[in-house]
Amino acid sequence: MKGLILSGGKGTRLRPITHTSAKQLVPVANKPVLFYGIEAMAAAGIEEVGIIIAPETGEEIRTAAGDGSRFGVRLTYIVQDEPLGLAHAVLTAEPFLGDSPFVMYLGDNLLQGGIEDLVAAFRDSEPDALILLTPVADPEQYGVAELLDGAVVRLVEKPAEPRTNLALVGVYMFNARVHAAARAIEPSSRGELEITDAIQHLVDSGRRVEPHVVKGWWKDTGRLEDMLAANRLVLDTIEARVEGELIDSQVDGRVVIEPSARLERTTVRGPAIIGASARLTDCYIGPYTAIGDGCSIENAEVEHSILLSGSAVSNLAGRMESSLLGRNVTVGRDHRQPRAYRFLVGDNSEIGIL
Ligand code: TTP
Repeated sequence: MKGLILSGGKGTRLRPITHTSAKQLVPVANKPVLFYGIEAMAAAGIEEVGIIIAPETGEEIRTAAGDGSRFGVRLTYIVQDEPLGLAHAVLTAEPFLGDSPFVMYLGDNLLQGGIEDLVAAFRDSEPDALILLTPVADPEQYGVAELLDGAVVRLVEKPAEPRTNLALVGVYMFNARVHAAARAIEPSSRGELEITDAIQHLVDSGRRVEPHVVKGWWKDTGRLEDMLAANRLVLDTIEARVEGELIDSQVDGRVVIEPSARLERTTVRGPAIIGASARLTDCYIGPYTAIGDGCSIENAEVEHSILLSGSAVSNLAGRMESSLLGRNVTVGRDHRQPRAYRFLVGDNSEIGIL
């Protein structure tokens, strides 16, 4: 069995972060989202993993994940020239996948319980496809499955009037029949070859598509709110570990302080993680915060936020919360005249002022 992780795409919903970086590399609890998927493959005993990359962000992903040896897998990078849909990504990967059955994992998704049970279920019953489903409160936002006698009969992408609340999770298992299905379908109204259409084609051709309702949580991190939610869910599971230096500082609850971080007159209330070489002085770091490597925070309060590496926050009058700062961002108060807000901000940024 092989693995296929989809790490191309446009990432429009996470701009401006995705103007300069791949969304799959945005960290959740200080680890790129993509790495959770690779680790899930490794834990399920999958050794050959293909990663779909886009021409613009592929190099960054290659540099971050390397040859896969540190995860215990072999990674093969497959360039998809244009993000023409999930089924198009499957076709792009066909030379890599060959006749092998495979697990497909969306590179910006997180699945709590991993994929070991699913791989076992797929090996046991050998369906043509196995799809993962989870009940959601807002099925009209997702691909939705209709079941009959334990089999999938219909998949509808973002239905106006959903007939069930079972949304498609971004992890799928297929045998090689999916390639013919992906070739048989036409692009959707948004111009993409949809994986839901390819699966529907399997169903309509009498192939066996099994549903599997997941037990744990699942998160698609495509938007800021989802990123923060994923960060909360993962931080809730970390084990406390303090390796950095604490000077007149206090750490409450489940907190990780990485080596060479330095905290002075600072309180951290977990769950939270402070990256290596971060400098925190006269700060309060509240629950559900992930501070990246080398960040510096001084005289400020930060809560329920993700700061990528190298960012700096200083002298804020109010608490910063529910925020995502990219790399090397500076947020601070200065006392120059005239007293004014001064910004240097890229396209599609969002700023909320107290
Ligand atoms: P999406 O989040 O559905 O698409 P996107 O990345 O273009 O994002 P947005 O809607 O914000 O513009 O994609 C899910 C995952 O699949 C994500 O990791 C990107 C990847 N993907 C590909 O690799 N190739 C593709 O053709 C598409 C559409 C997505």
